[in-house]
Formats: sequence, structure tokens, C-alpha cells
Amino acid sequence: MKTKILTALREAGDYISGQQLCEQLGVSRTAVWKVMKQLREAGYQIVSVQNKGYKLVEAPDILSENELKSLRKTRWAGIKTCYYPVVDSTNIKAGQLAQEGYPHGTLVVADRQDAGRGRRGKAWSSPSGVNVYMTLMIKPEIAIGNASMLTLVAALAVARAIRRQTQLEASIKWPNDIVLGGKKVCGILTELNIQIDYIDHIVIGIGINVHNESFPEEIAQTATSLFLETGKHFKRAKVIEDVLECFEHYYDEYLKTQDLSGLMEEYNAMLANRGKQVRVLDPKEPFEGTAVGIDERGELLVNYEGEVRKVVSGEVSVRGIYGYV
Ligand code: BTN
Repeated sequence: MKTKILTALREAGDYISGQQLCEQLGVSRTAVWKVMKQLREAGYQIVSVQNKGYKLVEAPDILSENELKSLRKTRWAGIKTCYYPVVDSTNIKAGQLAQEGYPHGTLVVADRQDAGRGRRGKAWSSPSGVNVYMTLMIKPEIAIGNASMLTLVAALAVARAIRRQTQLEASIKWPNDIVLGGKKVCGILTELNIQIDYIDHIVIGIGINVHNESFPEEIAQTATSLFLETGKHFKRAKVIEDVLECFEHYYDEYLKTQDLSGLMEEYNAMLANRGKQVRVLDPKEPFEGTAVGIDERGELLVNYEGEVRKVVSGEVSVRGIYGYV
């Protein structure tokens, strides 16, 4: 009911009469009034004017299933939405839900993570009220060897969503860090659950720095937030919904070929490393070269003394020589 009323208020964009809400939702005036009261108590600014009705003026930066669902424009991404004030890690939770039979497209969002996970076994700092911590769980019917490209699909989606929100030129540090102003604003951790010869499910965990006003000294040179880059505060639920919408779009394109042939041009246009000197930390043979772009498998092409070498994500990491990118 709350979701329906919020959706109706949002769709109206202007005043919507109590009568219209009652008819649209098939509920009584008292029921509408009660929900308006609850929404106001939750921080929504809703004005009511006699003979005009109700109008949503401002929504708070809260994460709730109602808030997320009332902003939704996707077909399947977020088909089930599970919000938790606190979890260990949204990736762990999404994995558990997958085992319990939750469907492809289940979204897990938390306000805080007590055991947020980063890549390469690192922790991901996840305080309450500050950032986006979301995981999309998918159950794709694809070959195991094609799954690693999904993390690049997710990067493309987040970069596009951040561009939409901020109007800034968000870019991608291969394979999947999102960069604003030369610093990392988002990290993505994709984890596969494989059963002998097929993929049971994949969790794509996305952490976006939203309201941070500063970072600890050790990462201050390499980390940033939407607030630090724009001076503005963004609604986390809107950021999440834009990411879902963009992911759905790019994922459909990926599925056509199960590779990045339809997306590599757009990815390369957003690639922060493009034309930059990079150090490829290959344990067997580290080398330095110029990043050229990705191919249709999502491998990074690096020009090493005239020879173009392919770098596979997950096996090696790539560092900028003159800074983070
Ligand atoms: C990285 O190291 O760059 C990846 C960070 C991924 C963090 C996100 S936050 C939501 C999801 N849950 C986790 O525990 N990790 C990912």
C-alpha cells in the first residue's frame, strides 16, 4: 500500500486528489490518510491542500523496500527486493537467498555492512547512512567461461548511472572500478556459484561512495564520493534504481552474443586507462605498456613495445604508473 501510494504520488508529479488515490488503489480515504501520516513520519514531505489533494515535495534519503520499489522502472532487475538495515555483506545475503530459491534478478540492499567484502580478500568499509551497498543476484543460462565479462557489464551500467545522476564524465578503470575526477568512486565484486558444469547463480555486489566528506589518509589520494566531486548530496535509492535500469539494458545486449561485441565500443569510450601507461602485475612476467582498449572478451589490450598483449581480468591487476588510473 505504501509503495502504491508513493508510486502514485511520484507518477502524478503534482497534486493528486484523495478521491483519485482511493479509486486508483481501491482503498478508503482513512486508509490513504493513515499512509500519508506514516510517510510523513518517515521523513517524506507531503503537502495537502483542500480541493487539490496531496503532493510529494521531497523524499528523504532513506533506503526501504517501499522507496526502492516506488522508483522502479525495470522489467526484471530487482523483481524481488530485500532491504536490511544491517547485514554482514549483501553478497553473502544474496548468495543465501539464491540457495533458498529466490529468483533471477533479486536485489539485496543494506544501509550498513558489518563484513563488507572488497576484491582480493580486502574489507570494504560500509558505515550506515553514507553509501550504496547493493547486490544483484542473477541465474543466467550462459557458459561458465563467459561469466567474467558480466563484471564489465556491471561497470558499464554503474558508470552510465553515475553520469546520469551527476552529469559528470564517470569513467572505468579496467576491469570494473568506477572513476570520478581521477579517483575511485565505486567498486564491484562479482562472485560465481558454480555447480560442476553450470552456473547456479552469480552475485554482483556494488559499493558506491555517495555522501563521504573525507576518507582515511591511506586512501584519500585514490578514493572519492559523489558528494566530494559535485558538492551535492544524492538520494541513494535513486542511484540504485538508475544502476538497475542501466544494468538491465546492457545485460540484454550482452546476452545476445554472450560477449561484449555489442558493448565494447561504449566501454572503450569510457575506459579511463585508454592511452595511459599501465603496469601489468602478472606474477609470471610483470610488464609496462600502453592500454589500448578491451576486446569482445573483455580482455585489456596492452601495447608492449609494439606487440599487443591481452590481459585477462581476475588473473592479474593493472596499475596506473602516473597515479591511480
Ligand atoms: C572492490 O574491492 O573494489 C569491490 C568492492 C565491492 C563492495 C560491494 S558493497 C556491496 C557488496 N557487498 C560486499 O560485501 N561487497 C560488495
